[in-house]
Amino acid sequence: MRAVQHACPSSEYSAGALDGVRRSAAACRACALWKNATQTVFGEGAQSAALMLVGEQPGDQEDRAGRPFVGPAGQMLDRALADAGIDRRKVYVTNAVKHFKNEPRGKRRIHKKPSEREIEACEQWLAREIAVVGPKLIVALGTTAARAVVGHPTPIERNRGKLMKHLPHTSLLITVHPSMLLRLPQEYKAGAYRQFVKDLKLAAPFVET
Ligand code: URA
Repeated sequence: MRAVQHACPSSEYSAGALDGVRRSAAACRACALWKNATQTVFGEGAQSAALMLVGEQPGDQEDRAGRPFVGPAGQMLDRALADAGIDRRKVYVTNAVKHFKNEPRGKRRIHKKPSEREIEACEQWLAREIAVVGPKLIVALGTTAARAVVGHPTPIERNRGKLMKHLPHTSLLITVHPSMLLRLPQEYKAGAYRQFVKDLKLAAPFVET
C-alpha cells in the first residue's frame, strides 16, 4: 500500500469540493462493509482546516449518527483535545475506514478491526479528503490510521509523539487511539491519558486561533 497522496494545495479546489467527495463516498461499494452498516460516515470539519485527525472507523454510535467520533472514544478525544488547548470545531475529523465493521451478536454489534483490503478500498476517500483539505498536520490516531496514512504498518509506540515530515505541505503526528485509553486497566489510565494529551499538544500550534 502506498502512502495517501496530497494531490495539490487545497486552494486549488472550489468551495464545495469536499461536499462533492462526501456525496460520492455515500454511495461507496468498494468493499463489503456497507452491507452491515447504516451509512458512510464521512469526515467533518472545515475544508480549510489546518489540522486533520484520522481515526480507525466509525463505531456503533457514529454509524447511527453519521458523524465521526461522537461515541465514548469521541468523548475521550474531545476531553483530551480540550486539555491540549485544541478547539475541535477548528479541526477536520475523519476515519481511515468510512463504514462500521461489525459482527451482529444478539442485539449488539461488536466492533471488528478493518482488514488491509478494507483499508485499501477506503484509501481513495482519505486521499481525497487530504487533497481537498490540504492540512498542515495530520494526526493519526492508532494503528489503522497510521497504516492508512503512512501506507505500511508503523509501530505506534516507537513513532508516537514526534512531528514528522509526510507530504510536501503536510506533517504527520502519530499517537494512540482514544479507545485504547478506555480499555486500559484503571491503574494505567491517568498516565496514558497524560501522554496522549502531551502528544496532542504538539498539534495545538497548527490550529488557527
Ligand atoms: N473510533 C474511531 O476510530 N472513529 C470514530 O469515529 C469513532 C470511534
